[in-house]
Amino acid sequence: MIAASSSAEGPVASGAAPLVSFDNVVKEYTNEGERVRALDGVSFHVGAGRFVALMGRSGCGKSTLLHLAGALDFPSAGTVRLEGAATSALNEAGLTALRRQKVGFIFQSFQLLHTLSVVENVEVPLLLAGEPHPRARALEVLDAVGLGGMAQRMTHQLSGGQMQRVAIARALVHGPRVLLADEPTGNLDTATGNSILELLSSICGQRGVTILMATHSAEAAAVADQIVRMRDGRILEGPG
Ligand SMILES: Nc1ncnc2c1ncn2[C@@H]1O[C@H](COP(=O)(O)OP(=O)(O)OP(=O)(O)O)[C@@H](O)[C@H]1O
Ligand SMILES: [Mg+2]
Repeated sequence: MIAASSSAEGPVASGAAPLVSFDNVVKEYTNEGERVRALDGVSFHVGAGRFVALMGRSGCGKSTLLHLAGALDFPSAGTVRLEGAATSALNEAGLTALRRQKVGFIFQSFQLLHTLSVVENVEVPLLLAGEPHPRARALEVLDAVGLGGMAQRMTHQLSGGQMQRVAIARALVHGPRVLLADEPTGNLDTATGNSILELLSSICGQRGVTILMATHSAEAAAVADQIVRMRDGRILEGPG
């Protein structure tokens, strides 16, 4: 379950720690000497296995929230926890382990390595984690995202939807607990976007992976269990 701190649902039941939790999180950036408050006191909890959509206008803080949830960046104040561990309190080794084991990140722009083949792209997280024989696992995950026959292609030989599937396979290959997806359908036509949403939904339902997805699309948000609406760095109150 997810609950804004002041919502009627209240905090997650004691005993089961939320997978991702934000407590009064503030994030400030400095742009040419001027401070920008991207997150302004955000509190919410996401239970394991949930699919949550983050919605709100451009600049409201969705990507910032995802970066903090994946420990790619850290709060200026407040606490972000992943499986109970505060990201700001982890040392380098703890952060590396968290990023390599627990989190998968899907970027809007795919961020594939174009000098590598499809299967080599998917192998990267396993190689970084020291896995000596990543090929079988990478092929299995490519199969699961519907790209079984395309393992040896180079990424420039793929459509946008296929590239996004490679990015999803790469984010999933190490068996993360949480998948953070930043506008995963933003660059895709409606039909291709819908197939990506179905894939994310099945990843959540069948593998029990928790998903946080930023999106501008109401259709995309409709596949989630819950919608969190943001404005000016805050989570809006009330039902999603
Ligand atoms: N690295 C950064 N340095 C400085 N300011 C930043 C940085 N990243 C984001 N911001 C600012 O923080 C605010 C929130 O940005 P963020 O990228 O989180 O918004 P968003 O909701 O993801 O927007 P979009 O829908 O356009 O992707 C914006 O005002 C943005 O300009
Ligand atoms: Mg964004």
